[in-house]
Amino acid sequence: MSKIKLPVTRYYGSKRKLVERIWNGIEIKELKFDSVLDIFGGTGLFSYYAKCKSKQVIYNDIFRFNSIIGKKLIQQSSNELTLERAKNMLLPIEGIIYQNIIAKNFSGIYFTDEENYQIDIFVQNIDFLENENLKASAYYILFQSCIIKRPYNLFHRNNLNMRLNYKNGNFGNKKTWERSFSELFERFINELNEFCFDNDEENISLNSSAIQCKAQADLLYIDPPYFTSGSNTTYHSKYHFLEGLAHYSEIENNIDHNKKNKEITINKSLEFENKSTFLNDLEQLLLNHINSHIVISYRNNGVPNIEEMAELIRNVNNNFEVSITDLGNYGYALNRNNINNNEILIIAKNILL
Ligand SMILES: C[S@@+](CC[C@H](N)C(=O)[O-])C[C@H]1O[C@@H](n2cnc3c(N)ncnc32)[C@H](O)[C@@H]1O
Repeated sequence: MSKIKLPVTRYYGSKRKLVERIWNGIEIKELKFDSVLDIFGGTGLFSYYAKCKSKQVIYNDIFRFNSIIGKKLIQQSSNELTLERAKNMLLPIEGIIYQNIIAKNFSGIYFTDEENYQIDIFVQNIDFLENENLKASAYYILFQSCIIKRPYNLFHRNNLNMRLNYKNGNFGNKKTWERSFSELFERFINELNEFCFDNDEENISLNSSAIQCKAQADLLYIDPPYFTSGSNTTYHSKYHFLEGLAHYSEIENNIDHNKKNKEITINKSLEFENKSTFLNDLEQLLLNHINSHIVISYRNNGVPNIEEMAELIRNVNNNFEVSITDLGNYGYALNRNNINNNEILIIAKNILL
């Protein structure tokens, strides 16, 4: 059988390299399901894989920027935005008065002044696009380009200087960071043209906290933020800037000026982002889905540990037949720190389904 080709994403915790192993792990357990709810969707790769496998897919993520990515790859089935039109959107339209929220508030933090100016113009031009397909494509290429231009692909530090003054190490990174938005747009428009497709199902993308999400499916896939015993940076802290771009007009009322990186506080939440309340959050989530099969991705060395999570599932519903599958090492084999880091799948087969 041919391998499923997936978009290349640079998202923290992306299951790109693991999704085939995860899917095989589910198939081995002979779960019967036609629909999937990917409740911590992220880049949407699990959803995308399920879409390729002809399932009806519901994607969800707490962040609007992610749910737009889900809308593009999962809910929609084509890309209508051309490269020429995308490049033109970096230029102001005559007669329109633009705001300069990014240029004004984020100078010297994430992108150069010229790039900030282009981001301001491009985001506001999205409003002039005539349909949701064009708008989702425009956001998609903007988010992906912003991510790829950042050191470590993250926004938790104000380290533009690191990018600009980078001398040592992998020069390939520096080259990517300095590529212009219009150059990067070409890459991501091509990606959309290649990966958008229709699987003849009604797939949707939602934007809700996991516990508040009302959707139901035969199989609930849970890929939550992962904690180690040390300190952990939240997803909000890693990607707040993109969440800001997805709420452009609200940015200025939501900047934390006490933080050096001027964190944008929109959709900041502790649900599933706090180790001490994680098991409580998980219990609430499971109670919302007792009629589904449950599949959880986690790691063998995380907090809480796998056995604590498995025990919780058994207690929530007697009809869950719980098994634990070790999918093997997820890191780079050459990195000695990763030798004992294994990706684990907890599968709760609902025997009533
Ligand atoms: C481990 S990542 C998921 C990665 C995804 N499976 C992929 O392959 O890209 C966890 C995701 O959960 C989202 N998230 C964090 N807290 C959440 C919450 N309370 N409800 C819903 N989503 C949440 C984050 O935005 C992040 O995208």
